[in-house]
Amino acid sequence: MMDKYIIKAGALVKAFGDKKNGELTYALNGANLGVYEGEILAIMGPSGSGKSTLLYALTGIIGINSGRIEIDGQDILKIKDSELTALRRTKFGFVFQFNKLVPELTALDNVALPLLLNGVKRKHAYEEAENWLERVGMKDFANKSATVLSGGQQQRVAIARALVIKPKIVFADEPTGALDAMNSENVMRLFVTIAKQTGTTVVLVTHEPSIAAYADREVIVRDGKVLSNV
Ligand SMILES: Nc1ncnc2c1ncn2[C@@H]1O[C@H](COP(=O)(O)OP(=O)(O)OP(=O)(O)O)[C@@H](O)[C@H]1O
Ligand SMILES: [Mg+2]
Repeated sequence: MMDKYIIKAGALVKAFGDKKNGELTYALNGANLGVYEGEILAIMGPSGSGKSTLLYALTGIIGINSGRIEIDGQDILKIKDSELTALRRTKFGFVFQFNKLVPELTALDNVALPLLLNGVKRKHAYEEAENWLERVGMKDFANKSATVLSGGQQQRVAIARALVIKPKIVFADEPTGALDAMNSENVMRLFVTIAKQTGTTVVLVTHEPSIAAYADREVIVRDGKVLSNV
């Protein structure tokens, strides 16, 4: 399974700041990264090393100064904005440290939303959303407002919301960063189990070795470069 790259990124450079007063920060400084289809890859490294920038660059959420990014056979730096948006909506899932669930909506609505936005019929969207809530152990909370859920419960709903579209790749930035150790372990175990069952590729940024331990492979980012493939 682990022999085909789903993401190939090369010579990524991203500078923040203002050239005029010479205050450029190179968040990415020649980073290369390959991600195999179906693997769970942990991106580790110290604070400020460029992990989040790398993740957001790969998804096209932030633009880069130079480099190459190919995802699932598409050059995401060359395709039109509309194609990139379509790619994100149909092939990418996102899980962040603080996943802003829509507070006015129930847990179920939040999970159905990405499907509705993709034009899936209401009845089918809600059936799927219910299935996913059950899978993440949140069925009993389906009709609760997102605001009354605990941090761990919100992350479970966020995982269901990321996976409901059956993405090829889930990008996660410190997905358990706001949770205590026990909740982190539970959420990660769930996340990894489902990713493996569904063959979803996961690119996971974390600085916690105990979280990275759930990955198939680790790379380390330092000073805007990907240092090692372990
Ligand atoms: N929007 C921005 N504007 C200016 N500088 C930025 C911006 N985003 C990131 N940087 C800088 O780029 C570098 C890399 O930041 P990044 O957020 O990628 O690090 P990180 O490895 O994710 O760190 P952490 O583990 O603390 O989340 C840092 O020096 C940071 O200050
Ligand atoms: Mg970060």
